Amino acid sequence: MSEKQKGLLSMFDPVKLDRPPSRKRVKTLVIGLCLGAVGAAGFALRSIIPTFAVQESSVHVANELCPQARSMTPVKHSAIWNTLVERSASEEFKERAVEWLSGAVKIRTESYDYMEPVGVDPRWDVFGSFHDYLFQAFPLVHSTLALTKVNTWGLVYVWPGSDGSLKPILLTAHQDVVPVNPETTDEWEYAPYSGHYDGEFIWGRGSSDDKGGLIGILAAIENLISVGFEPSRKAVLAFGFDEEASGLHGAREIAKHLLSAFGEEAFAFIVDEGGNFQESFGSVVAFPAVAEKGYMDVRLSVASPGGHSSIPPKHTSIGLLAALIAEIEANPVAPKLSRDNVFYDTLLCAAVRSAEIDPDMKKAILASIISDDALRAVESIIFKVPLISSLVGTTRAVDIIGGGVKANALPEYAWAVINHRIATDSSVSEVINIDTQLVKPIAAKFNLSLTSFGDVITDPSVPYYGSIVLSDPWGNQLEPAPISPYKGSAAFNILSGTIKSVYNTHRGLNGDDNIEVYPSYMTGNTDTRYYWKLSENIYRYGHGNGLGGRGIGNIHTVNENIPVDSLLEMIEFFTALILNADEATDL
Ligand SMILES: *[C@@H]1O[C@H](CO)[C@@H](O)[C@H](O)[C@H]1NC(C)=O
Repeated sequence: MSEKQKGLLSMFDPVKLDRPPSRKRVKTLVIGLCLGAVGAAGFALRSIIPTFAVQESSVHVANELCPQARSMTPVKHSAIWNTLVERSASEEFKERAVEWLSGAVKIRTESYDYMEPVGVDPRWDVFGSFHDYLFQAFPLVHSTLALTKVNTWGLVYVWPGSDGSLKPILLTAHQDVVPVNPETTDEWEYAPYSGHYDGEFIWGRGSSDDKGGLIGILAAIENLISVGFEPSRKAVLAFGFDEEASGLHGAREIAKHLLSAFGEEAFAFIVDEGGNFQESFGSVVAFPAVAEKGYMDVRLSVASPGGHSSIPPKHTSIGLLAALIAEIEANPVAPKLSRDNVFYDTLLCAAVRSAEIDPDMKKAILASIISDDALRAVESIIFKVPLISSLVGTTRAVDIIGGGVKANALPEYAWAVINHRIATDSSVSEVINIDTQLVKPIAAKFNLSLTSFGDVITDPSVPYYGSIVLSDPWGNQLEPAPISPYKGSAAFNILSGTIKSVYNTHRGLNGDDNIEVYPSYMTGNTDTRYYWKLSENIYRYGHGNGLGGRGIGNIHTVNENIPVDSLLEMIEFFTALILNADEATDL
């Protein structure tokens, strides 16, 4: 997973709103995180649209538009929960938690793009040391749960439940980390694989993404076993080992194993890494991701006659490709705000529940429920913020280019690869169509034939000066994820109720309103891309503490860290989630 603390913080500063986050530092954003930008956009609303007449939001309206679970603390298992909460507050347990994560960070489980298969590429072998480490660090987990290794390094643990009629739950995390760029080694305050603990933070690559989550799950279970908890509902853990390189060897193989062992729709819910909780318009809000954007790379290649460069044509293949790229960049895919987009529900939640949302923005959002004019007005305002249009819409980025071999030879061939992140309410085929229509006039203008994903678009019976071909370079297209149920969903209710209870317990608070839960989605992809068939209830949420900009420390960049307090709260979260799911009767 993948937020960058620094990139995110700048989003909340209206002065910097028109600066997109550094692409280098941000792989994935959870859309909820950009609500701060909506607030800033609201100020512009005042001058642009008249105030919409809407009914004042009441508690009733809020419950209708943005239903909230009640805080859910284990009841049947309250004694176990209370014991473990007390333990979590002890100095002794804190030290143990630090050791668990620090030891995991010390093992350099980097994954790289384009790795050879397991058994061929020696870079996978480090996962053996990681497994040895887990084995000695979590003795009760390993003596109680059944472990299957999938494709050698994938870990699948099964914790049997006494009641076979209950659907199991699936908790997932990944063992691998993004490599440390050797050029940045100097910039690390502590060596990237030191796992250094300074009394408040645990430092190092993977401390947040995602060894914090993996250790959080294992620590919760080690704890539960140590106090004699025996589940009635089966729990399954799945830890991939190349999430940061698309999960081709890890989660993809694990998914096949889980499908054959458990079947389709076998799990009551899946919880993977993803959103966290943080401040949004004066409220504390948790942002579980209920969807992920889609993904597609398009190879755009141009061919035209070669020859000696002393007698050049008006445009070489490279010039033609440049014209195409310029056209693509000049015509971004216009983002849409439809009422069935998850982000629309995120906005509704902000409108009816946030303490300090701009009043005009709030009115416009509420009016947009029935007024198309208001919807267009909200759309026109929020999409002025580049970050929001990137998060909600389909994006393109020309990321790779090639062509030409010699200064005195005309290039017969030039190509580029355009990365697309597909809006949750669009599709691979819609994006192919948009790209094809965009390129068509350029093809005509320069007398080039056009073939798009195998379809011959231009008239095949006439001669052309050259050709344009759109194709899929790597076969890694991914449709947007199915949207997991959230309104009125028992699984989402347990997740939300658990979030509220753990937030309260960790701070000695009571009540249902100290933290709200808004639906959100990921702009990048987690290992869950392979798990769609296993459950319709897939939630990407790790209960990281993002308050005050903390808790998602420098993911994917230098000085990655996690506060030990945040790690302890994550362990409490997985503990309560397992207990609440175990005693739930409606899953
Ligand atoms: C396109 O290029 C081909 C090959 O050079 C040429 O035969 C044809 O006449 C051109 N067509 C147009 C419309 O310019």
